[in-house]
Amino acid sequence: MRLLITGAQGQLGREMTRLGSTHVLMTVAHDQLDISDQDAVLRCYEAFHPDAVINAAAYTAVDRAESDVEVAFAVNRDGPANLARACRQCKIPLIHVSTDYVFDGTKTESYVEHDPVAPPGVYGASKLAGEVAVQQYATRWMILRTSWVFSAHGNNFVKTMLRLGAERNTLGIVADQHGCPTAASELARGIYAALDAGLKKDVWGIYHFCQPEPTTWYGFAKAIFSEADKQDMGLKVSTVNAITTSDYPTPAKRPANSVMDCSKFEETFDFKIRPWRDSLEEVVREM
Ligand SMILES: NC(=O)c1ccc[n+]([C@@H]2O[C@H](COP(=O)([O-])OP(=O)(O)OC[C@H]3O[C@@H](n4cnc5c(N)ncnc54)[C@H](OP(=O)(O)O)[C@@H]3O)[C@@H](O)[C@H]2O)c1
Repeated sequence: MRLLITGAQGQLGREMTRLGSTHVLMTVAHDQLDISDQDAVLRCYEAFHPDAVINAAAYTAVDRAESDVEVAFAVNRDGPANLARACRQCKIPLIHVSTDYVFDGTKTESYVEHDPVAPPGVYGASKLAGEVAVQQYATRWMILRTSWVFSAHGNNFVKTMLRLGAERNTLGIVADQHGCPTAASELARGIYAALDAGLKKDVWGIYHFCQPEPTTWYGFAKAIFSEADKQDMGLKVSTVNAITTSDYPTPAKRPANSVMDCSKFEETFDFKIRPWRDSLEEVVREM
């Protein structure tokens, strides 16, 4: 199958590229295709003639988005809208990736796909607008909502913790936000499985995809330091304190609970999502 992958230099884009060897890939980085440019999107489809498109491009700077609203919406709403229109024109499916930050975090159990959305910030609102555009313009589409993405590349919590852990003895990490870390590599594996099944069984729609078990940023940080210790990385950090969201104010509000129920994905695609701890070991090793 001929697959077009946008945002190819991002965390997910790189893993899609790495795992996509059974397909003919056209991977385009931001400087090769700006998805918010409708003409450029059309030219790219015309040049490559893809059988399906995977959108791994996004504006992901959650705090910066609060003051950079126009750009966040141009990338996260207008970009998917352009891809979806072009997919409809070419009669091909679009796989789009969205976020747990479309939820406000007030639910006490895990979020299911049809729970009401109410993004707490600009990033979530722009991603939700992208979801709406994909459903409005594409004919065959899949939206995978994921959370707390990490890999050996790009900006993510694992890399930040390893950097801070090498610099400081003591760290305070937020312990009252609950979610599921998800390795970009596991998400890429899931996307290829879902695309295969989508084409065979016509099972399009919204799905949640994150790795078990739920934790907090504090729990995740402790696991990262324990893994770094196992792999003899020689970090300086010896004390990790649990702090609250109010101790660590950020420009963007974040959901207190963004744990998502992924059983619809696992059952539909007969796909067992691996625990994030297994992926963490691989990512720390790769780094
Ligand atoms: N990261 C997370 O924790 C997280 C959590 C939940 C959901 N998600 C979703 O998961 C998906 C993958 O995220 P990720 O972590 O792989 O993001 P990422 O590492 O930030 O990668 C996004 C890529 O998109 C590119 N990009 C930005 N604007 C673009 C544009 N106008 N046209 C084309 N490319 C553009 C970026 O290039 P530049 O760097 O050059 O701008 C970057 O290479 C996204 O849909 C994201 O919203 C991520």
